[in-house]
Amino acid sequence: MEETQVSRTALMTAYLRAYHAMHDDPKIFDDSLAYHLFTEKERAILEQHVARFLQLYDPARAASCPDQATALALSMRVMATSILCRARYAEDSLEKAVRQGVQQYVILGAGMDTFAFRRPEMVKQLQVFEVDHPATQAFKRRRFAELEWELPTQLQFIPVDFTQECLAATLTRSSYAPQTKSFFSWLGVTYYLTRDVVFATLHAITDIAPAGSAIIFDYWDTDAFVPEKASKRVQAGSAQVRNVGEPMITGFDPSTLAADLAPLGLRLHENLSPTDIEERYLRGRTDGYHASEHAHYAWAMK
Ligand SMILES: C[S@@+](CC[C@H](N)C(=O)[O-])C[C@H]1O[C@@H](n2cnc3c(N)ncnc32)[C@H](O)[C@@H]1O
Repeated sequence: MEETQVSRTALMTAYLRAYHAMHDDPKIFDDSLAYHLFTEKERAILEQHVARFLQLYDPARAASCPDQATALALSMRVMATSILCRARYAEDSLEKAVRQGVQQYVILGAGMDTFAFRRPEMVKQLQVFEVDHPATQAFKRRRFAELEWELPTQLQFIPVDFTQECLAATLTRSSYAPQTKSFFSWLGVTYYLTRDVVFATLHAITDIAPAGSAIIFDYWDTDAFVPEKASKRVQAGSAQVRNVGEPMITGFDPSTLAADLAPLGLRLHENLSPTDIEERYLRGRTDGYHASEHAHYAWAMK
């Protein structure tokens, strides 16, 4: 991503959550606050951008679409499912972790995540750390100030570029408590980093978190990066984020992930496949939301 610009993909994923909260029922994930993060002008730009996704995915269908609202609704079905399901997975898992004594929640690559405002009943049991690229975090903080949203006292912002700084060193300089059981989420980020940076960051977590801590992250399998094997949806998604300057570069093999994580001191507790995700969050839906073919969700424990 660009050094000084808010992450375009962070704005886009928040827009997808906002649209879902406003238009779809039942909810996969109810981000009732996301809509308010954007000005009307920004919403209109994001709406056009999401509607245009259909041209990448299915040009014939896009050409026969009667209007932007229809293209937008169809694009949502293709683009948004994993963004919604992974957010649901992270917060469902966090709830379980809190019941088991976790007291710190570290949201890596937080983007426009609204957890700290949306879930006050959970926030009061936690210290929350939003870690993100400095440019994205600065945008978000400005936006909160413009909206005059009062920051919860439990919330801290930590700017980090994962490619330049060690997460453990940065957290050590904050009020993060290394002896306190912690839950880390890392949604929609591994794709954009090299394998080395992903593993270095996971290693930093094992350095700074006590036993019983957890990390949840989503990833694409390696087939997503092989043109002959990648689904049409994933190819269109890749093209779209490449067009906004945030190319996806890294995937992992679900069958070797446990072995890949073991040397970092992490035990793979859960590794949801697209079939698992469909079964857990999308079964019985008739509105066209289906699990993304190459998206997987990992939950690793120290
Ligand atoms: C697709 S967005 C995901 C945001 C949010 N987690 C979500 O699910 O909507 C990618 C996020 O990764 C962050 N990011 C990308 N590269 C990064 C880097 N090198 N260091 C820190 N954050 C980075 C961006 O700032 C952005 O917030």
